[in-house]
Amino acid sequence: MEKKYLFSPGPTMLPPEVLLKMAEPIMHHREPEFEKIVAEIREGLKYLFQTRNEVLVFSSSGTGAMEGAVSNLLSKGDKAVVVRGGKFGERWGDICKAYGIEFIPVDVEWGRAVDPGKIEQILRSNPSIRAIYTQASETSTGVKHPVKEIAEIVKKYEDTVIVVDAITGIGVFDIPTDAWGLDVVVSGSQKALMLPPGLAFAALSDKAWKLVERSDLPKYYFDFKKELKSTKKNQSSYTPAISLFVGLRETLNMIRKEGLEGVFGRHEKLAAATRAAVKALGLELYAPDSPSNALTAVKIPAGIDGLKLQDLFFERFGITVAEGQDRAKGKIIRIAHLGYYDRLDMVMVISALEMLLKEMGYPFELGKGVKAAEEILMK
Ligand SMILES: Cc1ncc(COP(=O)(O)O)c(C=O)c1O
Repeated sequence: MEKKYLFSPGPTMLPPEVLLKMAEPIMHHREPEFEKIVAEIREGLKYLFQTRNEVLVFSSSGTGAMEGAVSNLLSKGDKAVVVRGGKFGERWGDICKAYGIEFIPVDVEWGRAVDPGKIEQILRSNPSIRAIYTQASETSTGVKHPVKEIAEIVKKYEDTVIVVDAITGIGVFDIPTDAWGLDVVVSGSQKALMLPPGLAFAALSDKAWKLVERSDLPKYYFDFKKELKSTKKNQSSYTPAISLFVGLRETLNMIRKEGLEGVFGRHEKLAAATRAAVKALGLELYAPDSPSNALTAVKIPAGIDGLKLQDLFFERFGITVAEGQDRAKGKIIRIAHLGYYDRLDMVMVISALEMLLKEMGYPFELGKGVKAAEEILMK
C-alpha cells in the first residue's frame, strides 16, 4: 500500500471536505442557488485579495488571467516593462509578444529578486510605459519580488500600472492589493486556494479600469469589462467551471476562518522550517536572499543526480516534488508548502529527502534536517 502526496507548487493537495463538496450533483449556473454561491465568492475574494474592488473569475488556468491583463489593459502602440527572473516572468514577455506589444525586459539572474531601482530608471527615461509586469512569487526559482517597492515607484506615474502575477503569492503572504496600490493582481485556483486547476482571478484598481476603457487590443473570452458586468449580477459570462466555484466557496470560507494573519503565519512557519532543514543538511537555497514562502527551491549538491532524486521521491514514497525548469533543470528541486499543508506534512517531506539523500550517498547525519525543522515548528 502506498499513499500519494503532492509537494509541487501547483497543483497542490486538496482538503477532503472540499473534494466531497465538489463531488455533489452539479447545479445549473443560471439558478438562484448558484448566484448565491457567486455572491459569497465575490465577498470571499475581496477579503483574500484585500480589495474593495471586484475580483473577476475566469474558468481557465492562471495564464488566462495573465493574458487578459495584457489584452485588456494595453492598446496598440503601448509599451511595457517585463521583469524576467524566471519562467513565469518570461511568460509575461511571451504574451506581450503575442499581442504585438513592445516591452523593455528587466532580466534578473535566476534565484535573485529584481532591483526596483532598475524599474525606476527605465520609467524615468520612458515615461510613456503603460504597464510593469512582474511576479510576486516567481515559482520557477522560489524568489519573492519586492512588489510593494515597485508599486511605490509606479504610483508616481499617472497612466502607468503595475500588474502582479500573484499566482503563488495570494493566500501565501501579505499582498494587500489596495493598500499597496497594486493595479492588477492575478491568481489561480490550484495553489494556495486549495482547489484543482481551472479558475483564474484578476483584481483591478480604478486606475487599471481606466486603461481597460481605452484598450483596443483584440479580446473575446477574457473580456474584463464584460466579465465585470456579469460578476455584478452574480453571474459568469459563459458556462463557468461550476464544481470549482462550489469548491471555491468552501476554501474561501476556510481561509476566512483561519484569518489572513493565520494563513500567512502558517506559511511563514512551514517555509522557515523547510529552509532551516535544508541548510542543516548542508544544502543551499536557490533563492537565498529573497525566498518566497510558497515553495523552497533547493540546489542539488555536487555528485547527486537531481532528476534521479526527483524520480526517487515518487518511486520510494509516492511524493511529487517539482524539478527545475529550463536552465534550472536537474540543478534544483522545488518543495511546495502553499495551500493545504500543515507542520507534519513538512516533517514528512524532509524525512523523505533525508532518506533519499542517504540512499544516493550524500554525506550527512540522518535526522539533522528533521530536527532543525521540528525546532521551528514547535515554536
Ligand atoms: C507564478 C506563476 N505564474 C503563472 C503560472 C501559470 O499558471 P497556470 O499554469 O495556472 O496557467 C504559474 C503556474 O505554475 C505560476 O506559478
